[in-house]
Amino acid sequence: MERLLPVGEAIPFVAKAYAELSGGTANIPDRIALRTVDGVTLVMPGRLSGEEALAVKTVSVYPGNRSEGKPAIYGIVTVFDPKDGRPLAVIEGAYLTALRTGASVGLATKLLSRENSSAMAMIGLGAQSRTIVPAVCSVRKIEKVYAFDSDPSAFERFEAEIGDAFPIERAGSADEAVANSDIVCCATTSAEPVFEGNRLKPGTHINGIGSFTPEMREVGFEAIGRCSKIVVDSVSGAMTEAGELIQAIDAGLIVESDINCEIGEIVLGKKGGRESEEEITFFKSVGNAALDIAVGNEIYRRARERSIGTEVDLG
Ligand SMILES: NC(=O)c1ccc[n+]([C@@H]2O[C@H](COP(=O)([O-])OP(=O)(O)OC[C@H]3O[C@@H](n4cnc5c(N)ncnc54)[C@H](O)[C@@H]3O)[C@@H](O)[C@H]2O)c1
Repeated sequence: MERLLPVGEAIPFVAKAYAELSGGTANIPDRIALRTVDGVTLVMPGRLSGEEALAVKTVSVYPGNRSEGKPAIYGIVTVFDPKDGRPLAVIEGAYLTALRTGASVGLATKLLSRENSSAMAMIGLGAQSRTIVPAVCSVRKIEKVYAFDSDPSAFERFEAEIGDAFPIERAGSADEAVANSDIVCCATTSAEPVFEGNRLKPGTHINGIGSFTPEMREVGFEAIGRCSKIVVDSVSGAMTEAGELIQAIDAGLIVESDINCEIGEIVLGKKGGRESEEEITFFKSVGNAALDIAVGNEIYRRARERSIGTEVDLG
């Protein structure tokens, strides 16, 4: 997948998926959550009509796996032919998730960050960071990536994996990374804000990727209070899962109408992106199956074209 669809090349597919989501041509039912004692398995079906793509992502999140040396996330994406319903492909879902997540950050950064942004903060150095950094670097000329994780060993792994390809520097704290950056990316599993809002420079763009329950927030009230533009992947998703925004609304800091728009509305030209050099912008994403479908479909198309993968006769 890394060879078939580099994250920068995945950005246009994610843009089309968001446009369909906001334009009403995507059919994305609510995801089904099957909870067990140790984790949750999510079933996420959907159809894109413009792209003519039909797929189901099934992803398990078992946080305790890590202590046993196993990945916390396992998943598969099954791609179907929308014309006759035939299963076309089964694609490994954990990397696909990181790929489409990185691409969505790349898109938001392209639409909302200052064009002359040259430094980024990467807070949380897990699976998503591996695609977020290349995606941001594909849309902005980044000279420095200030990287921080509360687990010091995460930095060592991050640096070993992508340190040769990107200008990474270890930050002493998340606040230090934020204070030096034009683009701030958070992809942690934290339930509490990971940086102080007063550290943000005017003109910063923030990508909030990690939190996905009403109890979780990576971006605190002070940072949200300083944002003049809040953009989400989907308003309904944000209102049920984006802890930052749900808690800010509950606290009376903002109201739902302070969410400027969905990112797909900017893609469609219905809403504008950044308006000034000084404004602080915030893209909050909780993830959506539309992205998995669009990117999964393109990976299948490219794999066929280049004869990559294993053909299985289902009889
Ligand atoms: N929005 C989306 O589309 C989307 C997609 C995939 C994953 N996610 C979410 O993003 C988060 C990160 O995913 P991942 O796969 O990279 O997880 P991961 O477990 O691989 O990495 C998370 C990292 O965050 C670090 N961390 C935790 N608390 C921290 C803190 N306070 N400060 C700094 N670092 C901290 C951990 O040490 C870990 O290295 C998860 O919550 C996941 O559910 C969102």
